[in-house]
Amino acid sequence: MSEIARQTERLPGAGRARVFSGVKPTGHLTLGNYLGAMRRWAVTDQHRSEALFCVVDLHALTVEHDPARVRRLSRQAATLLLAVGLDPALCTVFVQSHVDEHARLAYLMECTAGVGEMRRMVQYKEEREREKGKGARGEEEWGGGRLSLLTYPALMAADILAYGTHEVPVGEDQAQHLELTRNLAERFNRRYGRVFVVPRATHPPVAARVMDLQEPTSKMGKSRQVGTAGIVYLLDEPETVRRKVLRAVTDGADGVVYDRGERPGVANLLEVLAACTGVADPAELAGSYGSYGALKKDAAEAVVELLRPVRERHAELAADPGYVAAVLREGAERARGMARPRVDAAYGAVGLMAAEGEERGEGEARW
Ligand code: AMP
Ligand code: TRP
Repeated sequence: MSEIARQTERLPGAGRARVFSGVKPTGHLTLGNYLGAMRRWAVTDQHRSEALFCVVDLHALTVEHDPARVRRLSRQAATLLLAVGLDPALCTVFVQSHVDEHARLAYLMECTAGVGEMRRMVQYKEEREREKGKGARGEEEWGGGRLSLLTYPALMAADILAYGTHEVPVGEDQAQHLELTRNLAERFNRRYGRVFVVPRATHPPVAARVMDLQEPTSKMGKSRQVGTAGIVYLLDEPETVRRKVLRAVTDGADGVVYDRGERPGVANLLEVLAACTGVADPAELAGSYGSYGALKKDAAEAVVELLRPVRERHAELAADPGYVAAVLREGAERARGMARPRVDAAYGAVGLMAAEGEERGEGEARW
């Protein structure tokens, strides 16, 4: 057995499935983040696996950003991760930029990926358009957007692969990035020896893609700067949540039916209500409603009740920033210990020589 494999076997939690996921501090977290990802992290993933959850702050720099705001949102996102129920005794909660291995491995991923496959990423194309539309700056000054927006999925792959992750619980919008991550892991392993575990995405059974309440053909996304009436934020006051849900755009036709293609507004409300109340099939719910009004009312109350404990816990935690900071410090330390041997192995495998006195595999890392 190689030294790397030996070290990895000694890591805490070796033998259990490993889970990694992250959230970008580009805006206030939304109901989409919660139903698509965070709720499952707290309810199932942290209990049944060796799980890491990360505020992926480096990813927030891929678009125009205000430094003070990113810092504030990172702290808030970390606090919310704890507020939704992630327990530092069960899982590792940390901030991406506190662990150098992410950026270290991202470079090797850029050396593994091709420009063409990066350009095909839908999120890249969408965010590029959004950035383009933001200001009145000319194409020249804009320069086509930040280079990091294009290479972002290489960093995301590094986030995941550094930890030998088996499962990545995410919303449906991340499926393409996960496919790319799998391709990069397989390509790297084929070229240089088996260093990485090939991970897979997991999605929730309903509400894997919560749509904007005002524009139900677009994802409810926290990075939007305008038109926030269709976005429910985790920290919205109950009255605000009610107003947003009650004013949700529904579809022209009468009658409550579940049809994502033809009736996206109603389908979205049914999915949200189903996800909040633990009903597996939104179509089943449709049958019990005669009018949009009643559906909206129930959906609004269900969301208010779902978010109430999160808001309350957030307020408690926000009053104790020392605790949150300590959790993040310990989390980063643990994460570093988990990522380091594998990233070192990857450096060795591609032919980068070790510094004197350092141990590094040479393409022989296998586990
Ligand atoms: P992001 O806000 O892009 O950092 O996303 C963090 C996590 O939330 C990812 O797993 C996303 O797939 C998930 N997510 C974000 N928006 C939505 C949405 N509208 N519906 C479902 N999942 C979402
Ligand atoms: N790209 C993800 C998003 O936009 C965020 C993310 C970055 C992520 N690195 C990750 C998610 C690693 C899961 C695992 O939502």
